[in-house]
Amino acid sequence: MTEQIGENDRPVSAISGASSGFGAIYARRFAEKGHDLFLVARRQDRLDELAASLREKYNVRVETMRADLSKPDELLAVEKRVESLKNLEYMVNSAGFGGNRQFPDVDLDLETRMIQVHCIATMRLSRAALLPMTARRRGRLINIASAAGYLAGWGAADYTGTKAYILTFSRSLQADVRGKGVRVQALAPGFVKTEFHDSETMKNSGVKEKIWRPLWCSAEKVVSDSLRQIERPIRTVACVPTLLYKLVAWGGSAWCLAPFRVLFSGGRVR
Ligand SMILES: NC(=O)c1ccc[n+]([C@@H]2O[C@H](COP(=O)([O-])OP(=O)(O)OC[C@H]3O[C@@H](n4cnc5c(N)ncnc54)[C@H](OP(=O)(O)O)[C@@H]3O)[C@@H](O)[C@H]2O)c1
Repeated sequence: MTEQIGENDRPVSAISGASSGFGAIYARRFAEKGHDLFLVARRQDRLDELAASLREKYNVRVETMRADLSKPDELLAVEKRVESLKNLEYMVNSAGFGGNRQFPDVDLDLETRMIQVHCIATMRLSRAALLPMTARRRGRLINIASAAGYLAGWGAADYTGTKAYILTFSRSLQADVRGKGVRVQALAPGFVKTEFHDSETMKNSGVKEKIWRPLWCSAEKVVSDSLRQIERPIRTVACVPTLLYKLVAWGGSAWCLAPFRVLFSGGRVR
């Protein structure tokens, strides 16, 4: 069951990739604040389950839309709906997935879909959200990048590339909407245990087994850091949760620390 939102003065928040992981956590946090919700993903059963629990627990309205954001017509339907939400408080672009193949031995359709979901959908849904937000001179846009966007690594050319796009795109968006009452954030977490590493495109990556325990962060903490930082008066766009990943991001992007980049790419990138 789904229900219409946005027809009264209640605040609304929209989330892509709401069926699991960070997206589902943001949905709960916004419902706690009393926001009505617009939730998007491909797995309708998971959206229905989440929507039912949020309605029951927080007495909010929840509209869901099943959409594959790599498909232009389905993305357009989501875009139109987001654009029509005049009381839009938060838009979170969380839909995304990882890959596990090295170029040129990749599934080209999958790599193209990654660019569509991470770059095209983030760009189009950001614009759709900024229309009502700038008109009302308030709103928060959160685009989920990754600490990987600061790095280079094998088997992740498209992933690191698309996440770097989200970081730079979001920084420039904040410059565009300066003085219009809107805040933009690019959230760049490190390794987090969500369904991300179990998905079809990441299975057999061995990441969950290979990555050292202290390198994993809690998804709840990542979302708390994101929501805390976006309300701070200093307009920092990139939000990198935990000190460890702040160092990784700094080391991955500082010219003086090229050796760090070399290390992270297993000596394959200078
Ligand atoms: N977990 C990490 O270690 C980590 C670290 C840094 C950044 N991130 C980023 O965080 C974001 C969320 O990931 P997560 O960790 O929360 O993983 P997750 O639990 O797998 O969530 C991914 C979400 O994206 C949705 N999605 C994937 N492809 C989609 C498509 N074509 N159309 C619409 N929705 C789609 C999934 O829903 P459906 O399958 O129902 O469509 C799901 O709701 C991603 O952008 C990821 O790159 C994750």
